[in-house]
Amino acid sequence: MPNDTRTLTSQGGRTDRACIHPMPLPIAGWAVAVAAVSAVVTYLAGNTQFAPGACSRLEAHAGSFLVGQDLALRLATDAICDHLDDPNPARPLILSAHGPPGVGKSLFHLLAAQALYSKNPSEAMKCPGHDCAGYKVMYGMDYVASERAEQQGLLRSALIDHVRRTPEALIVVEEYDKLDCGMRGFFRQFLENGAVGNVTLNKAIILLESNLGYLQLLGLLKASRSRAEVTAEQAQRVLKDLIFERWERQACEDRTDTLKMVGLVDIFLPFFPLEASHLRALFEARLERRSQALAQAGVGRLAWDAAVLDFLISHVEFDGAYPLEGAKEVAVVLTKTVSRPVRRWAEEQQRRQAPASTGKGEGTDVPHCALQVVKPLGRPRQLVCA
Ligand SMILES: Nc1ncnc2c1ncn2[C@@H]1O[C@H](COP(=O)(O)OP(=O)(O)OP(=O)(O)O)[C@@H](O)[C@H]1O
Ligand SMILES: [Mg+2]
Repeated sequence: MPNDTRTLTSQGGRTDRACIHPMPLPIAGWAVAVAAVSAVVTYLAGNTQFAPGACSRLEAHAGSFLVGQDLALRLATDAICDHLDDPNPARPLILSAHGPPGVGKSLFHLLAAQALYSKNPSEAMKCPGHDCAGYKVMYGMDYVASERAEQQGLLRSALIDHVRRTPEALIVVEEYDKLDCGMRGFFRQFLENGAVGNVTLNKAIILLESNLGYLQLLGLLKASRSRAEVTAEQAQRVLKDLIFERWERQACEDRTDTLKMVGLVDIFLPFFPLEASHLRALFEARLERRSQALAQAGVGRLAWDAAVLDFLISHVEFDGAYPLEGAKEVAVVLTKTVSRPVRRWAEEQQRRQAPASTGKGEGTDVPHCALQVVKPLGRPRQLVCA
């Protein structure tokens, strides 16, 4: 969640400008110049269209990073695939992601953007940015009254501008439950008509993100033996009812329009609270990635056992069975516990290996940092490289 929710910001759809100085040119020169300028413009515009094959990439790409959110991922993939299959959709696709903080809602739309805008999605892509020029993330719906009109104006023009430039847009509205009546009215018309002026929204995918629904999703989890048992229908029902009830209470518009607005959402995506097993998988994946990076650098490999993973999980704050901040603490815990001993060990290996120029990190004698939990006297428990 953004730190300062009173500031409207957006990312993506960068508007780079080329500076062109007029010069007399012969006709052929003009043709070359026009082609060159349009090539520059195309290049600067970045990936503005959904790349062919997006549907088949989406679930595999997102699924390789996102843990514990199989239902949301399945629902989102099916809806996006159907939308992409339609050459002339009558409306934009509208998804509404719900769940507690840190459980992968924003990670999901980032991964979706990578898979939508590139045939070779990767973490290295500039998204939002040049590699995902159609991807726009909007924050800051909770501004103070005195700034309201100005902020609404900015948001409207940013949105219209973005869709004009990139009709195949992935637009995310974070914390959309905090929209005030004015903005909600604007969104309702925008989404309902699929157009503003001559700008059409029909090819776009809109993802609304909100923390609403946490208790309802927790209720569903507790009432079933496992998260795999919760059905799409159950999740849709509780989330849709909740949003309708919340908006009706706010009384921004008459009941029919509230119904229409809620009805515009094609799919409600349930992002469940994560559990210790998910954190374990995430810690393991990150250690594995560090190990691969060390191997690639010719330094060596990391090794660890279950006690190390238990140790890492013990640093995360839980409320009963659920980590309070989802997976947000994973990176911080690794920084606090793993980074220093591994860095020291890597430096030591590099010092030792310095005279040798070949075969580093390869073969049977690959150096290993075996992470171990120790409890030196008078100090808190810590990890060391043994
Ligand atoms: N399900 C998950 N699988 C893998 N990593 C996750 C998952 N959930 C969270 N993370 C990690 O935690 C970080 C924060 O997650 P994310 O930003 O997606 O949370 P969020 O659900 O959007 O929370 P908020 O409601 O605060 O916006 C991510 O960058 C990612 O590293
Ligand atoms: Mg988020």
